[in-house]
Amino acid sequence: MDGFDLLVINGLVVTASDTANYDIAIKDGKIALLAPPGVLGTSSAKRVIDAEGGYVMPGGIDCHVHLEEPALFGGKGRSSDNFETGTRSSICGGTTTIVAFAPQAKTIPSLLQVLEDTQARAKDNCYTDYSFHMLVGHPGEQALSEFPRLRELGISSLKIYMTYAALQLRDDQILDVLLASRKEGITTMIHAENGDVLTWMTKKLEERKLYAPKYHATSRPQIVETEATNRAIALAELMDAPILVVHVSSPSAAAHLRNAQTRGLPVYAETCPQYLFLTQADLDKPGFEGAKCVCSPPPRESAHDHDAIWIGLANGTFTVLSSDHCPFMYEDYEKGKKSIISEEYPEGRFSGIPNGCPGIETRLALTLSANRLPLQKFVEVTSTNAARLYGLYPQKGTILPGVSDADLTIWYPPGKLGTFKLTNSMLHHNVDYTPFEGMELNQWPRYTILRGEVVWDRDGGGLLGKKGYGKFVARGKSTLPGPRQAGEWDVSVF
Ligand code: URP
Ligand code: ZN
Ligand code: ZN
Repeated sequence: MDGFDLLVINGLVVTASDTANYDIAIKDGKIALLAPPGVLGTSSAKRVIDAEGGYVMPGGIDCHVHLEEPALFGGKGRSSDNFETGTRSSICGGTTTIVAFAPQAKTIPSLLQVLEDTQARAKDNCYTDYSFHMLVGHPGEQALSEFPRLRELGISSLKIYMTYAALQLRDDQILDVLLASRKEGITTMIHAENGDVLTWMTKKLEERKLYAPKYHATSRPQIVETEATNRAIALAELMDAPILVVHVSSPSAAAHLRNAQTRGLPVYAETCPQYLFLTQADLDKPGFEGAKCVCSPPPRESAHDHDAIWIGLANGTFTVLSSDHCPFMYEDYEKGKKSIISEEYPEGRFSGIPNGCPGIETRLALTLSANRLPLQKFVEVTSTNAARLYGLYPQKGTILPGVSDADLTIWYPPGKLGTFKLTNSMLHHNVDYTPFEGMELNQWPRYTILRGEVVWDRDGGGLLGKKGYGKFVARGKSTLPGPRQAGEWDVSVF
């Protein structure tokens, strides 16, 4: 066999369904062939990567990424990563495809307009392949009527909020979105926290002058997330619509999700490294440092909570493990985590801290280094299931000859690299901190390959990808189980 652009030989190929030794041949950006080691030879390939001793996996897919977003979350903060810096950071950490948000403020009636504006910001700027979820802040008549056109344009998912004044939807608005989504085969992502309750709790804390970052967690205990998760499931069941509850932090919320799944509902769940590695103690770091770990839902109480989330990943409660990369500078008094430090609040105030943590580059290495998931499960939750749920499969998320894009990440087992401490200086995002600073890792991608091009070579120049190589990917319907079949439950009456 000859004429290949790239051969990856001698690696242990790990997909969500199989682990075996194969050589991989790549041509024109696609996986061309998989063959037992040695069968393909090497003489006529333009380039050969010897992955002896390494794992070869589908490139990571991160389906929860905020880039270049305006200040929607309570009017606080501005994303410090744009499409260029965010996707640059992504490939250096092994993620080859991202799905970012196209955010609709309450003042904008048209989702198509929002999509066009977001497309323009991303175009020619990305290092990874990319798509968008609509972030629906104003589900009025116009926005809902645009769902069929959004599907034609390759957008098959959206996110809605049960909190944040600028975005929070009432239950009747949530039903509107679920019904319209169901009709068009769109998956609805839901941020499940009870906004009214946490606003009330925040007011009470502030009346007592309890302003420090650690009170961010006090203002939104697990029950705030659990109640909203349960309500989201109930509303989805009522409309027989598939949902994914995003960034789940709470074991009790996870238990409700598992229960819904056991009842056969198309209810999916996402968690993030914040909820596997950070705790409330991180919000109580000296000075205002705790602000670095302020995200919503907040990191939970202890390692017991982490254990429950790891179990949920292993047993399938969680469909995906995303980063929720939401980048803000720390040392920025106008747009960053310290923006709330002012004359009025010289020591800062938790309710003014922009919510969200960076993590697009660290998601895969942190998770693999923890060594708490079987390798196939790791691939499933960090790549394959995202492709299935968001309509990218099998172009993305697997290694199928003749079908899949040649998006690969090559790793070496722990020990080969040794252990090292993560520092922000290693990362390629435009953020002046990582919440995971100092954590011990034993994994980092050796190579990242996007559509056959080596875009990251840890020991051979680092970042090799080019801005603008990343392409928009039009997405189809979810290939995970969807609504029940006609006859089981009839929503046509609505
Ligand atoms: O704190 C978080 N998660 N910030 C990002 C915005 C969101 O809700 O995903
Ligand atoms: Zn959210
Ligand atoms: Zn988010």
